[in-house]
Amino acid sequence: MKILLYGASGTIGREIAGELLARGHATTGVTRRGDLGDLAHERLTVVAGDVTDATAVADLAVSHDAVVSAVGPRIGQENDRDTIVGAATALIDGLRKAGVTRLVTIGGAGSLRTASGRRVLDDPDFPALWKANAEAQAEALGVYRAATDLEWTYVSPAAVIRPGERTGAFRIGGDDLVTDSGGKSEISYADYAVALVDELERNSAVRRRITVAY
Ligand SMILES: NC(=O)c1ccc[n+]([C@@H]2O[C@H](COP(=O)([O-])OP(=O)(O)OC[C@H]3O[C@@H](n4cnc5c(N)ncnc54)[C@H](OP(=O)(O)O)[C@@H]3O)[C@@H](O)[C@H]2O)c1
Repeated sequence: MKILLYGASGTIGREIAGELLARGHATTGVTRRGDLGDLAHERLTVVAGDVTDATAVADLAVSHDAVVSAVGPRIGQENDRDTIVGAATALIDGLRKAGVTRLVTIGGAGSLRTASGRRVLDDPDFPALWKANAEAQAEALGVYRAATDLEWTYVSPAAVIRPGERTGAFRIGGDDLVTDSGGKSEISYADYAVALVDELERNSAVRRRITVAY
């Protein structure tokens, strides 16, 4: 497929770019500066774009089979609803304008439910620093859910996403936090990218949120 990838310069977006390219997909990586440093590949094109600008999204998306977004606030942007909800709104508008229907986006883990019935972000131990962006991610999920004409999938990481091996061995859940037998919810960047690209290729969770964890 020919994929437009927003957030290609990010920690997680770089892993997704590598996974897409390794599986043979032609990938257009978008960053605000139009630069991906030393990342080069015969199937990779790098362009500049702002994911919160629906017209710009439409202009880039039009020649692609699907759009992937790994966009999020940069470190230090601890209250950045504009990027998170703005991206959701502009991606939906932009895809509609472009006539592209498939969208797979990174989400947050904060809106997943725990065994207590609470959302992760409502747990008293949830870090205060992350709360505003987690709330914005929950709001963005609502924006995607309202887009019933598009084939979106919102892929929440585990509670913890970290460096680690690409094992290909993980579990996929829905709206509930997935934990291991010790109660931990974790995934590596590389395995998160595997799960996201699996979903892009298989279309098994269209108009749903999924989560990925060990
Ligand atoms: N457990 C969790 O819930 C969890 C954990 C980690 C991450 N996340 C989510 O995943 C997101 C990505 O994480 P990360 O660690 O990969 O972040 P990151 O390294 O900071 O990367 C952010 C990416 O978003 C891009 N971006 C930001 N604003 C943009 C805009 N207006 N237009 C186009 N691109 C824009 C950046 O591109 P530039 O090069 O142009 O700056 C960069 O590629 C987080 O922000 C968060 O929403 C969730």
